[in-house]
This record gives sequence, C-alpha cells and structure tokens, in this order.
Amino acid sequence: MARIFSGVQPTGDLHLGNYLGAIRNWVRLQDDYECLFCIVDLHAITVWQDPKELTANTRSVAAALLAAGVDAKRHILFNQSQVPGHAELAWIFNCVARLGWLNRMTQFKEKAGKNRENASVGLYAYPNLMAADILLYKATHVPVGDDQKQHLELARDIAQKFNNDFGVDFFPMIEPLIFGAGTRVMSLRDGKAKMSKSEPSEMSRINFTDDADAIARKIQKAKTDPHPLPAAPAEFKDRPEAANLMGIYAALADADIGAVCQRFGGKQFSAFKKELAELAIAKLTPIRDEMVRLMADPAHVDGVLAAGTKRARAIAEPILAEVHDIVGLLRVCAPRKC
Ligand code: AMP
Ligand code: TRP
Repeated sequence: MARIFSGVQPTGDLHLGNYLGAIRNWVRLQDDYECLFCIVDLHAITVWQDPKELTANTRSVAAALLAAGVDAKRHILFNQSQVPGHAELAWIFNCVARLGWLNRMTQFKEKAGKNRENASVGLYAYPNLMAADILLYKATHVPVGDDQKQHLELARDIAQKFNNDFGVDFFPMIEPLIFGAGTRVMSLRDGKAKMSKSEPSEMSRINFTDDADAIARKIQKAKTDPHPLPAAPAEFKDRPEAANLMGIYAALADADIGAVCQRFGGKQFSAFKKELAELAIAKLTPIRDEMVRLMADPAHVDGVLAAGTKRARAIAEPILAEVHDIVGLLRVCAPRKC
C-alpha cells in the first residue's frame, strides 16, 4: 500500500479551508493508503508562538482531526517534535537544498513581508523541514491544499538532488494529491485573500469550534456583490466572492460547481446564503460536538499522540540510519532511537 504523509500547523483553530482543502481528503484516503498525519509544531515555531497556546493548540488540533474522522487506530497521528528524525533529516536537507531554490518560495515572501531581515532562519528553511517530514518515511503521496504545491515541488527537487549527489535511488518521487473543489477556500471578508488562521478577523473564516449560530452569522455577513448569482462558472470572472461561496457550497455538498450555478443562478445572495448556512451547519456541527467531547479528556488525546509517536519512530529509525550511511556519517554507537 502506498504511504501518505500530510501535516497541519497547530497555530490556531482549524477552519473550513483546512477542512475542505486537506483534512476531509485525509479522511477519505484512509481506505486506500497507509497514512501518517502530523501536527507540525516545529513548523509552527518558525513564527512566534506563545508556549502555553502552542501546547493547547496542539491538543485541540489533535482533537479536531480525530473528530473529523482521522482513524488513529488504523493510521498514525502524532506531533512532529516527538520524532527527532524530522529535525535531523531537515538539517541534512539544509545542506542539499540550494539558496536559489528557497529564494523562489512565495510563501516565505508573503510571511516574511517587507521586513525580511527580521524573519527567522527557520521560516526561510521551512520547506526543507517539510521535505524531511515526508521523506523520513519515504512517503509517496501528499494530500494538501493548492497553496502547498510549490513546497512539494521543492521536496521533489531535494529528493532528486540527494539521490544524484550520492548516486543512490533512495528517496522516492513525491506525488501531490490536490483535489478539485475546496483546494483554495477564500476569506469570507475578501474573495481575493486565502482563508487563514493568521487573518485577524474571526469573521473571515468558519472555525471547527464555531457553533451553529456562529456559522450562520458569519455566512450571513459574508461579503457579496450587488448582482444576482451567476448561472455558470464562466461568469465568476471579477466576482471572487460569488465564486468562493458557491465553491464552498459545491465542496460541502460534493456537487459539481456547474450544477450549483445552474441551481442558484439568477437568485439573490440572501436566499443562497440561507441554504449554504444550513448545509455548513449540517456538515460541521457534528464534528464540533465530537471535538468538544474529546477536548474534555486531554489525557486520552495525549495517549493517542504518544501511540502515534512510537509507531512513527519505528518507521523513521531504519530510514534515517540508512541516510547516515549514505551520507557517510560515522556511526560509533548502537543505532539510536530517532
Ligand atoms: P496550515 O493551516 O497552513 O497548516 O494548512 C494545513 C492544510 O490545509 C494544508 O494542506 C493547506 O494546503 C490546507 N489549507 C490551508 N488553508 C487553506 C485554504 N484557505 N483553502 C484550502 N486549503 C487550505
Ligand atoms: N506546510 C504545510 C502547511 O502549512 C504543513 C506541512 C508541514 C505539511 N509538513 C508537511 C504538509 C508535509 C504536507 C506534508 O500547510
């Protein structure tokens, strides 16, 4: 069975973009792949995190993933920092990746903003750690939202350069799994900006922790334009808010976007928003209720992560030992636990 690796940062509440772009697909792929799902706390600290909040968010993201249907009995759910091999392989990849490759990363440019000199070195090397996450397990398939495409291309380049430099056929090629609807969910306040945990306005996103009232209110207040809804996707041009809301509907309903346009085309936003809110509430509130239940028992959540950590280490250890041999790092003690 092919192996999947994917990750999510514990930097705040998960939102609808995370759900439609990534997590829902993780859940669906569980029957066909051997999966490792990782809460990437080492990636989170590339920008400042309050230590207490980071700990709390790591637990709540774990609860959210379990509530959304990640099956931690059949598959592996863990937090990245507990498997030291991630940081170690990332260092080796720091020595494989080229500055020129990292200079092209658009996410670094966006996150570092104008004050680049003040960004952490970790934020710059972020994609190398991401490549290490995947390749530490020789995973081949990576389900992500559209925004991670460039990072996965870099991971492929790293795998290829490592293989070439050392004359081996060791790391596999990585296949991104990016699905149609929902791979790029936009802010409810601005159809041109990605829905994101870091956007200050809570009204811009629907969180896993939102109750039915909050979901309804956010959809009702979502930005629109003054025209009736488009009757075909071709009419989305210059109408980013209509495209986003109808795209969310299509993704939640598992419907074709053309069919959604046919059904709502010519109608007012107000009528459509009512139906969208009903659909979002029906799909998301059961996940919220389960998440609340799990959060009441943090020891259980920690236990799930501990079990996942053990299993992840067992896969990573022999792969990392082989990497040491390939690179020529002298091993003078018994194989260490990774
Ligand atoms: P992050 O929250 O940045 O750790 O992202 C975790 C996963 O959610 C990644 O696979 C992202 O590609 C995906 N994701 C994040 N934001 C969005 C969004 N607005 N639309 C679709 N997918 C997203
Ligand atoms: N960079 C990803 C994001 O912010 C999270 C991530 C870290 C990841 N390591 C990964 C995703 C490995 C897929 C595979 O969305």
